[in-house]
Amino acid sequence: MAFEAPSTPLDELPAWKELQAHADQLRGRSLADLFADDPGREEAMHIEAEGMYFDFAKQRATPETIGLLVELARQAGLPERIEAMFAGEKINVSEGRSVLHVALRAPEGEKIDDASGHDVVPDVREVLGRMATFSDEVRSGGWKGATGKRIRNVVNIGIGGSDLGPAMATIALTDYTDPEMRFAFVSNIDGSDFHDKTRHFDPAETLFIVVSKTFTTLETLTNARTARDWIVSALGEDAVERHFVAVSTNEKGVEEFGIDPANMFGFWEWVGGRYSMDSAVGLSLMVAIGPGRFDEMLAGFHAMDEHLRSAPLEKNLPVIFGLLSVWNTSVLDCPTVAVLPYAQELSRFPAYLQQLEMESNGKHVMLDGQPVRWATAPVLWGEPGTNGQHAFYQMIHQGTEIVPSEFIGFSEPLHPLGEHHDMLIANMFAQSEALAFGRSAEELEKAGSPPEQVAHRVCEGGRPSTTILIDGPLTPRALGSLISLYEHRVLTEGVCWGIDSFDQWGVELGKVLATRLIEELTEQQPPPPDHDASTVALVRRYRGLRGRAT
Ligand code: F6P
Repeated sequence: MAFEAPSTPLDELPAWKELQAHADQLRGRSLADLFADDPGREEAMHIEAEGMYFDFAKQRATPETIGLLVELARQAGLPERIEAMFAGEKINVSEGRSVLHVALRAPEGEKIDDASGHDVVPDVREVLGRMATFSDEVRSGGWKGATGKRIRNVVNIGIGGSDLGPAMATIALTDYTDPEMRFAFVSNIDGSDFHDKTRHFDPAETLFIVVSKTFTTLETLTNARTARDWIVSALGEDAVERHFVAVSTNEKGVEEFGIDPANMFGFWEWVGGRYSMDSAVGLSLMVAIGPGRFDEMLAGFHAMDEHLRSAPLEKNLPVIFGLLSVWNTSVLDCPTVAVLPYAQELSRFPAYLQQLEMESNGKHVMLDGQPVRWATAPVLWGEPGTNGQHAFYQMIHQGTEIVPSEFIGFSEPLHPLGEHHDMLIANMFAQSEALAFGRSAEELEKAGSPPEQVAHRVCEGGRPSTTILIDGPLTPRALGSLISLYEHRVLTEGVCWGIDSFDQWGVELGKVLATRLIEELTEQQPPPPDHDASTVALVRRYRGLRGRAT
């Protein structure tokens, strides 16, 4: 089915104009005023769904704002786009591709067609079945290395979407991971990454999972070649078969690299790299937590997909989340967003979300190639609480930039360590309260603050946040739902902004230049430099420092 992109830019939608006027009215109203004005605010400004309590009452918005934002989503065609995605239409316009990561977690028997009308769910389930068999074999010790030793170390080699998701989730779900095994993720072309992660591993007990959608990525192929040399020099050429498997859409590339396609797990062009951690890209995670837990995670993803599709926009968690981001970024001009998990397990979640948000929505043109006239993806950053409190929260509380913050916490810990969890969550609630309501000069004076410190200690408040409180501990299911929530938030934002959230052309230029520069740095007789004066000077300096002709 052909996808027809809506043609009205965001700033020409009637709801956009109403939102601008509404924002003007809200300016000067503090969050304390907004709470005082409306006793029903908390009731109106939270959503409960999929085991999450999503509290957005501390946003600089009112129920009227939400109504206008929902209208904006309707006028931008969000409901139709959600359906177009599930229908396999080619909503990735610039690459002419369907966007079907929702099919990766569709249960057996569900039917999701790609653009050619082919039901992709049986293909997905077939690969999941092969992954499960393989994972069980590795976990049980049935899959042996070349010397007959069982595999104890699994090293994922990939970068970007072929690394961040499985790495983040393997850390997040450590509690569910086989304690007999070690998992490492090598991504950087900096040789230190490979060296440091493998230096204590015995090659005879190490399995490499080389993950690359294209199987052309410089970093991944370089690291994979290094891994191959590492195995071959310790165990011989024949060992490659028992120590390497691949995950890719490029069977030819895998074969050319020297990995038997029988040891390859496939996925499809309609899975974007940053939306792929629940495909075969998550193989290392499945080995870590086992197929049963992986299935639970998929069920969590799927539950949020269903919620996206069926909940009314006003009560739709990812939709409201995305609309609040459009509000903060494009209407209230906040250039960044902080993701602050109060769960040490989610330490890599902000890094994972950086690719999801910024590679998806860091775009400067609309679907038709015309420049956007509004801010798109905010800079996403963050660290787990409470660590961040002792580092950058000072700026969030009193800095000159307003940073919308997203607090994520769980009602139960995964550890048995008494009072820690209540203290952790008390801190999370305290932070959002302090950000929202601050502390005035009068309060400080009353509390006896030395007069010369009052101005320094004032926290003006009015700093917006959302809190996601998740029922129970961090489970694979909860993680799946949380990731899916963010995936669909990105979709919601992208539809409003009118951009293609599923391409990534911006990363191409750097790759092309790097390929040329590698030659210029290393060749005995490099081609004549064709760069700006700054780059030429850097190349000369580096060559000189490396003892090469300048
Ligand atoms: O850097 C861009 C990118 O294409 C990402 O979108 C992708 O996740 C990453 O590189 C890795 O690509 P591949 O899986 O093809 O190696």
